[in-house]
Amino acid sequence: MNITMIGTGYVGLVTGTCFAEFGHHVTCVDKIEEKIKKLDSGQIPIYEPGLKRLVAKNVDEDRLRFTTDLAAAVPGADAVFIAVGTPASRRGDGYADLTYIYEAAGELAPYLDGYTVIVDKSTVPVGTARQVKRIIREKNPEADFDVASNPEFLREGAAINDFMRPDRVVIGVESKRAEKVLRDIYKPLYLIETPIVCTTIETAELTKYAANAFLAIKISFINEIANVCEAVGADVTALAKAVGMDGRIGPKFLHPGPGYGGSCFPKDTLALMRIVQEYGENVRLVEAAVEVNAAQKARMVKKIRDMLGGSEAGKTISFLGLTFKPETDDMRESPSISIIPALMEKGAKIRAHDPKGMEEAKKYLPDGITYASNAYDACTGAHAVVLMTEWNQYRALDLEKIKNLLKEPIFIDLRNVYDPQTMKELGFKYAGVGRK
Ligand code: UGA
Repeated sequence: MNITMIGTGYVGLVTGTCFAEFGHHVTCVDKIEEKIKKLDSGQIPIYEPGLKRLVAKNVDEDRLRFTTDLAAAVPGADAVFIAVGTPASRRGDGYADLTYIYEAAGELAPYLDGYTVIVDKSTVPVGTARQVKRIIREKNPEADFDVASNPEFLREGAAINDFMRPDRVVIGVESKRAEKVLRDIYKPLYLIETPIVCTTIETAELTKYAANAFLAIKISFINEIANVCEAVGADVTALAKAVGMDGRIGPKFLHPGPGYGGSCFPKDTLALMRIVQEYGENVRLVEAAVEVNAAQKARMVKKIRDMLGGSEAGKTISFLGLTFKPETDDMRESPSISIIPALMEKGAKIRAHDPKGMEEAKKYLPDGITYASNAYDACTGAHAVVLMTEWNQYRALDLEKIKNLLKEPIFIDLRNVYDPQTMKELGFKYAGVGRK
């Protein structure tokens, strides 16, 4: 099939490339010429494991191409996916900014040629697909098209596997014709028996927010329970394991930490709160999850301060990991963005290392941080080390070496990577999250 993907951001690039890998012919369009030039020369603007190789392979095999020319990319497409950004609105009110979606709809409309399904891939509030439909109809009354919603459930760092082996594919349609096009696009997944959930457009749009909100609630829940564990002297790791063994609950997303970050949970929880407000409804559990998440980040600052004896002034703190999770260079809403400046404001000096995120981190963190070439360099001369992101390379550190490099053997493990007893035996003053 012929697919056009508008937007070569994270979602557009991964989805377009994976569709090409399915065997479809995919044209990825972006307005930013610089980005297209880079993609054409084999450079990938984001770090996502496996993506560079897959892009190169599909470009080589002539199934994937990049262009700025929308007028050439739309005619002849069976489906045009809109995968442009939906950042939080600049007004700071939690609404998603849909400008780019509506712009894309207006711009593609004149070039529609033959029956085409316009699919919203970006995470968008309920009603957006209908608005897209109105815009296209207005600009091109003769066009033969349907709109559809096909939310993505990709995790950064695992996006290719998530795409190729999804738990389910959700398609929201309003005609059998559109359903057939989307089912044909996802046909390669029938082989691995992926369930395709076919719903109305509104249900599909809301499903995405509900899934992300539920996961955010699950994380905030275990973070609160971790705090209770600290108070009563229980161990959250064993607790989460036992709780997660209940098939109704499941073991995933029960890892406590410094709070969730990234480009999705923080934005989507707020957007959901705004959407329901408009309908006079409430999502009180989601509101609570957001509050708990903010409190968790603040609690981490206090944890670090307490470990340093009550004040971070004049102390050097080493941070291992800056990104919101491993296997990405994405710094958006990373807990490190609020934790590190809070410590610096009170006079702490920061040495930091991240395997992929240091260039991005410089855009989000204050000046004055010393970026180290590796974990050991980051620990040299520091009064404490904070394991912020659980990158694989921080999971088997030479702990003796770390201890000798530190001025004080203080290890604050915000991802519970290390065993408290072992750390104690090695002579560390150790704190995890939710474990005495
Ligand atoms: C999330 C969802 O998992 C995807 O299904 C969804 O498609 C995506 O948002 C999106 O809306 O595009 P992502 O933001 O890439 O994916 O990352 P996650 O792996 O979900 O992690 C989000 C945050 O939660 C990270 O900061 C992570 O450290 C934190 N987390 C996750 C925990 O603190 N504990 C856990 O048990 C799991």
